[in-house]
Amino acid sequence: MRKKITVIGAGNVGASCAARLADKELGDIVVVDILEGVPTGKGLDLLQACPVEGSDVKVAGTNDYELTANSDVVVVTAGLARKPGMSRDDLLWANYEVVSGTVRQAVKYSPDAILILVTNPLDAMCHVALKASGFPKHRVIGMAGILDTARFRAFLAQALDVSVENIVAFVLGGHGDTMVPLVRYTSVAGIPVTDLLDKETLDRIVERTRFGGGEIVKYLKTGSAYYAPSAAAVEMVESILKDKKKVLPCSVLLEGEYGINGLFVGVPVKLGANGLEKIYEINLTAEEDAALKKSAAAVQELVDVMKPKLEAAAG
Ligand code: NAI
Ligand code: 2OP
Repeated sequence: MRKKITVIGAGNVGASCAARLADKELGDIVVVDILEGVPTGKGLDLLQACPVEGSDVKVAGTNDYELTANSDVVVVTAGLARKPGMSRDDLLWANYEVVSGTVRQAVKYSPDAILILVTNPLDAMCHVALKASGFPKHRVIGMAGILDTARFRAFLAQALDVSVENIVAFVLGGHGDTMVPLVRYTSVAGIPVTDLLDKETLDRIVERTRFGGGEIVKYLKTGSAYYAPSAAAVEMVESILKDKKKVLPCSVLLEGEYGINGLFVGVPVKLGANGLEKIYEINLTAEEDAALKKSAAAVQELVDVMKPKLEAAAG
């Protein structure tokens, strides 16, 4: 039987996700949005792209969660996106309500689904989804590290004039300006990147990666990135639905790993049919560890602000 994927939010990220999922034939797709008509229209448009792409999946858009019943994966992209001058954290309260409301509705109809969170501020929204769903931590996973790493890889490939496929890297930490691109673990077809690029160039690329989302917001003016974000979310869906067991940087609930407890932070994990299947604890230098802790502290600040609401929702 074909898998079923729900995408909540038919905006830039959600619609792009749905298009990529359909093109890859990963399963039947239902797109839900609060706007009247928009998800239905986009669903029809996506369905009509399938004959051209040779994709035999069903795609539908709706305002009604009943149609999402028995989804294997639910991707949450609903909510406000940032505009120039806004940080991801500025979206906290508006998106708290959107994520808690949409997750509650979705899990009512798909109690066994795996949730992939995209809505910002990402790591904080994973906490909201964990509480709203009541799901175990292996079924609530945030997308950010793949996107941040993709930006890092793209800039490195450009600087070296090599294939993006040759760049192996990852970015740790929360999805904010304190994220931690790990140069020491970055290689070009196995060659340490530090052998190929000087420190000044690497520092520049690390900095551009950290502010990669903001760079795009500045150009777009009315919203934020969506091509790379949707590609990243779909890589997670694919690894889960095909049980590929890819090792990818994702935001997951840490319970002691890296000395961090009770907080969603981006780290390398294995994604398979059960969702989060393993958290990899890699060795960090004192400097890298301090950078990760600083990034985690930024997530903790938001979680502390939400704490009274989160506790009330859980109780
Ligand atoms: P968008 O504005 O294009 O789309 C958001 C959609 O959510 C809209 O269609 C809106 O009607 C819908 N929506 C709002 N409230 C809803 C509700 N209660 N129920 C159902 N649908 C609802 O925004 P975009 O660009 O798609 O971004 C979506 C979110 O993803 C933003 O919070 C953005 O910051 C975040 N994002 C996160 C990334 C990450 O790396 N984690 C990367 C890119 C975006
Ligand atoms: C990004 O990094 C907005 O979080 C989103 O592009």
